[in-house]
Amino acid sequence: MNAKYIHKHDVLIVGGGLAGLRAALEAYDSGADTAVVSKVYPLRSHSVAAQGGINASLGNAPGSKGDTWEDHAYDTIKGSVYLADQDAVEVLCREAPGAVIELEHWGTVFSRDGRGSIAQRPFGGAGVARTCYAADRTGHNLLNTLYEQANARGIKFYNEYFVTSLIIDEDACMGCVTLDIPSGELHGFASGSLILATGGYGRIYERSTNSLINTADGKSLAYRCGAALKDMEFVQFHPTTLYGSNILISEGARGEGGHLLNARGEQFMSKYAPQARDLAPRDIVARSIIREIEAGLGFKNEYVHLDLRHLGAEKINDRLPGIKQIAEDFANLDPAVDPIPVQPGQHYSMGGIEVDIGGATNISGLFAAGECACVSTHGANRLGGNSLLEAIVYGKMVGKKAAGMGYNSARISVIEDAVNRESKKLESFYSRPGEDFAALTNEMRKAMFEKFSIFRNEESMAEGIRSLVGLRERYENIGLKNRAKKFNQALVMTLELGYMLETAEIVALSAIKRKESRGSHYRTDFPDRDDDKYLKHTIVKKDQEGRPLISFSPVRLGLFPVKEGGY
Ligand code: FUM
Repeated sequence: MNAKYIHKHDVLIVGGGLAGLRAALEAYDSGADTAVVSKVYPLRSHSVAAQGGINASLGNAPGSKGDTWEDHAYDTIKGSVYLADQDAVEVLCREAPGAVIELEHWGTVFSRDGRGSIAQRPFGGAGVARTCYAADRTGHNLLNTLYEQANARGIKFYNEYFVTSLIIDEDACMGCVTLDIPSGELHGFASGSLILATGGYGRIYERSTNSLINTADGKSLAYRCGAALKDMEFVQFHPTTLYGSNILISEGARGEGGHLLNARGEQFMSKYAPQARDLAPRDIVARSIIREIEAGLGFKNEYVHLDLRHLGAEKINDRLPGIKQIAEDFANLDPAVDPIPVQPGQHYSMGGIEVDIGGATNISGLFAAGECACVSTHGANRLGGNSLLEAIVYGKMVGKKAAGMGYNSARISVIEDAVNRESKKLESFYSRPGEDFAALTNEMRKAMFEKFSIFRNEESMAEGIRSLVGLRERYENIGLKNRAKKFNQALVMTLELGYMLETAEIVALSAIKRKESRGSHYRTDFPDRDDDKYLKHTIVKKDQEGRPLISFSPVRLGLFPVKEGGY
């Protein structure tokens, strides 16, 4: 092992999106030697694609004066169908106004209202206009702000490094092994603490708004080492993704006054959510669209219309320029003239690596934040505008906590041994003649989309699980057609597929175990919510044979009583 490929840092962050960068800033500002490993150039992290906004009870909009963190917390908990841990929601909502103002001071170009204050728009499931935004490019603005701040501090980045395994010794995380994608060399990292901020697992599905890089890396890396995964069956389908490509069409479009229309031109949401209508929570709107389509009221049995025409060209250009551009480039239409064809698509994973409020996992030295983690602020359904917020608020918390761990003076021989083991493992992909990743990946995505999407039932999920088991067995003999060492994306995608298959099976097993309907998990064979049996978190850990073992744990209540209630 060549010692020049061993790096040491107090805090190592895996992932250069919002959660990772916010954690890096806090760890650095707390005095830790901090570095970020990212599988892409950080500004290409999936946070850049977030459109509609970030929630905070600033109370700037007319009609939302007097908004409080408690109102925000209530909406979040109701939207989560009472599965969110209420202490985690309290932290999220209390910290939100300060977090947004800090971002403003760091340079985020938020849209403004007529008085020059940060503008706020209504989003689904919120009683008032609470979502702050930078037109419909909020994630892009926030990510650039944090990346600038990181560069101003001189935080070290290792870009295009792909983590292939975590290193655990004496029950603690000591660092990780990474593949430097351009050179094909393995690098070992020794760190006092390691924060996973690798985002979601959307690409286990067909029809996803997620970037191709969202392949469950962090969840799977942590699970393999004994970390617990929580509430993995809760997968969010965004109601409005562009028909054909499934590019996100922001909820901000409905926040600005857009309506969903069926093929008869009816605003059908008033049938399903008489008060909130188009701004009901996403699980409700997504199911309503599918019901309309199944009732023969969609277009081509595939999509409905999102109508922005009445907003007029000026408002669309000012508030929704990205949507206008997407509609022009990918559907060849002008939303001021024609309605946009939309259908639900996978968008977000509520579940993830179980962490406490400081972001700690059950493995010493291993932390997680953002979409790869489950601190449990979203429960069974996330409200739009709360994911950027969670990344920022909990990114900061985890950065501080991890920095407090100091450097663990990992034995370098442990890191070297891990790199050598990994090198042999990767070599085996090159030498096997087996099938390559492409067909397996497509089959997994199809199985997940057909059997574990908006509507689920026992029989079809059982079939889906059989397909996934078959795919996992085929993966054991997977080989590589591209045998290059440098920039071998086929190797990266093969490793990603391993993470995805493992995660897909955990989503599937968790879903079949929960015999009720709650939020994004809707079972046609158990259409009711069952608080007596299932007001509980689903926890998955590896058993001694390495197979997923499912248990349940209590939800932390305390702020608001559990109620029935519609929209
Ligand atoms: O619709 C959107 O702009 C997405 C926002 C979110 O997922 O929070």
